[in-house]
Amino acid sequence: MNIYVKKDYNELSRAAAEEIKQVVGKKPDCLLGLATGNTPIGIYRELVSMYRRKEIDFSRVRAMNLDEYFGISLNHPGTCNTYLEDHFYRYINIRRDNIFRLNSEAKSGEDEGSRYEEIIGKIGGIDLLILGIGLNGHLGFNEPGTSFESPTHTVNLTDITKQCNYQLFGTVDKMPEYGITMGLKTIMKAGKCILMASGEKKSKIIFKALKEPVTTEIPASILQLHHNVSTYLDCESSKLI
Ligand code: PGA
Repeated sequence: MNIYVKKDYNELSRAAAEEIKQVVGKKPDCLLGLATGNTPIGIYRELVSMYRRKEIDFSRVRAMNLDEYFGISLNHPGTCNTYLEDHFYRYINIRRDNIFRLNSEAKSGEDEGSRYEEIIGKIGGIDLLILGIGLNGHLGFNEPGTSFESPTHTVNLTDITKQCNYQLFGTVDKMPEYGITMGLKTIMKAGKCILMASGEKKSKIIFKALKEPVTTEIPASILQLHHNVSTYLDCESSKLI
């Protein structure tokens, strides 16, 4: 694993976006898997700036979200799809039919998971997956205890995940009960992963995930076993490693 420690959030966002630009430059029709949350906002901002400066072209890029809430309307302002639209897709020249979405309204989580895995397989795999890390070590919505063999699947969201993500839903008790997420097996099959963390509050979990033994209790620790991971940290999130 390559670990890059940057001065601050803006620098880590720029450096991670630069690595994404290289991947897209080498493979213009690559498949990107995209995280949501606070941490990647800077990356999407940088990628949009690069696009405006004509440094990157998304006309053949395929993109899909890493996870989604489940059992709520697709157009709900809190969905990961809405986030990606608002922070990224609407500002770049990605083709609409090259965007693949997890359907938060699907009747069956199992069928939806299989459909997503089929899309990934047909395209030929995820080339680059952008990941954040939860305070409990989750990756996507893979909460502690998730099997390392999991494909895309539905999950019961934990209280800590609800507490960290309720802003777009108003209050914690309005948060959806369920999520659907690429599984840890899906994540491990990606050609490259970019993991990001920023701020002191992430320093403990970054230490556990990167420096302590791999365990299902800290889902992000599985990345120690991935062959191609770049981790971008700022000084504060890296202070214990
Ligand atoms: P954050 O979320 O980027 O908003 O901290 C990360 C995550 O929960 O995976």
